[in-house]
Amino acid sequence: MAADKISELHKMRETIEQGGGGSKIKKQHESGKLTARERLNLLLDEGTFVEIDAFVKHRCSEFGMETTDAPGEGVVTGYGHVDGRLAYVFAQDFTVVGGSLGEMHAKKICKVLELALRMGAPVVGINDSGGARIQEGVDALSGYGSIFYRNTISSGVIPQISVIMGPCAGGAVYSPALTDFIFMVDKTSQMFITGPQVIKASTGEEVSPEKLGGAMTHNQTSGVAHFLSPDEAACIKDIRKLLSFFPSSSRENPPVVQFDGDVNERDDAVNTIVPDNPSKPYDMKKVIAAIVDQGDFMEVHAHYAKNIITCFARLNGYSVGIIANQPRVLAGCLDINASDKASRFIRTCDAFNIPLLNLVDVPGFLPGTNQEFGGIIRHGAKMLYAYSEATVPKVTVVIRKAYGGAYLGMCGKELGADMVFAWPGAEIAVMGPEGAANVIFKKDIESAADPLQARTDKIQEYRDKLATPYIAAGRGYIDDVMEPAITRARLIRAFAMLRGKEETRPVKKHGIFPV
Ligand code: HXC
Repeated sequence: MAADKISELHKMRETIEQGGGGSKIKKQHESGKLTARERLNLLLDEGTFVEIDAFVKHRCSEFGMETTDAPGEGVVTGYGHVDGRLAYVFAQDFTVVGGSLGEMHAKKICKVLELALRMGAPVVGINDSGGARIQEGVDALSGYGSIFYRNTISSGVIPQISVIMGPCAGGAVYSPALTDFIFMVDKTSQMFITGPQVIKASTGEEVSPEKLGGAMTHNQTSGVAHFLSPDEAACIKDIRKLLSFFPSSSRENPPVVQFDGDVNERDDAVNTIVPDNPSKPYDMKKVIAAIVDQGDFMEVHAHYAKNIITCFARLNGYSVGIIANQPRVLAGCLDINASDKASRFIRTCDAFNIPLLNLVDVPGFLPGTNQEFGGIIRHGAKMLYAYSEATVPKVTVVIRKAYGGAYLGMCGKELGADMVFAWPGAEIAVMGPEGAANVIFKKDIESAADPLQARTDKIQEYRDKLATPYIAAGRGYIDDVMEPAITRARLIRAFAMLRGKEETRPVKKHGIFPV
């Protein structure tokens, strides 16, 4: 091979790797952002990144694009390893035409999505883009459509992670929304369908980009994003951690991490987490930390619908998805947002063969016109549907309260829980003793000499008689009542027993999820 051909290749590659060049890279760094290549180098195991399609060029000849060179077409694509496992990646390069998406830019992303689906490996897409490349018109729109289609086809087959590390406007937000998880970085990432200027022009409303679509807005208020990171390096670390809980595709089981601790250990401190007074809140995260390996768990949607906790953890080295009511927020009631959050999480775990652990302390669905008018009926139904549909091992522990529809909504035996345990202080009934006493002892209370005292007595009578775990255990709805101290040991054995679980469903095109 002639030496000049080889040096020409190296020169071309060098130019492409410079993206938009020195001043644009400087601007990117000054705004607190890394470049596309720097991000990929952090994400992937050292030296494993292999680029594809570096030489792709746009073929737009309108509005000055005929003379615009766009190295790499504004997106770096390829594959590499995360913790030694194959992963596909794309990172939009804001230094090249603002990372805007045109026909060929989209084709590069689609190629990676197709390879990932064919090979059964996750895709991580880093978004930092001004959206559809305005000069390309319908070709840009078509590009987005092709990505949405592939995101949807791959849904539930390979893990798809979207990372927002800059602007993400217009239709660009819908590819992330079709993927499994959205990561955002505080202060430097925004997502919105229509930006502040369009909003002002059409509704008169004034809002800053950060308030409209910043990381906190989407993590806390809209629930669009699942993870919030203080900076890009922390975000990438979190992505690697999240992937560690997942199999490469739905065809596999999640990877197992060697755990050397004693799996039969008692932990007497767990006996003291739940207060004696059933109305007193406590932090369910203490229960989770006490029962999972090394007390380590990774919360999903940590800032959204805090009345329910969804997280990944390991039990004896095996991945598990945990859904737990949080008595510290809204007394752990299920509401519209909690139902949305939990049902999405349940379906994600089920799609990727991650067993479910349900920790129950729920006084019921949140009452009120707000909830009823907002459609709590159809939203709450999502939890019933998601749990019933899930065929992974499902284990439920009733920690304290399990009342009414919410008892079922947190995966009682009837929704297919393989094992249901209860702690001795559990209260399982149609409704809480306070509500129940008002209905069934109404006349007794009204006619008593001291109605207030009568009500207190009747509430206690109901609690003593019906709000215990032993009636449910007596019918076999609860498989065992256990001392809290042995919960971790029992769960490890339960999930080990369920490892070979096989459950099928009637053949169908797909169910009608109650969205
Ligand atoms: C072409 C674009 C572009 C775009 C930015 N650029 N967005 N070029 N198409 N969509 C170019 C700029 O002209 C500029 O080029 C360079 O990228 C950097 O942009 P700046 O504006 O200088 O950067 P900044 O000040 O940081 O502002 C970033 C921004 C802004 C907030 C993203 O550029 C912006 O508002 N862009 C337009 C956003 C938008 O409305 N997109 C269309 C959404 S509609 P030079 O040469 O000066 O460096 C959509 C429909 C898709 O996406 C529907 C699919 C279903």
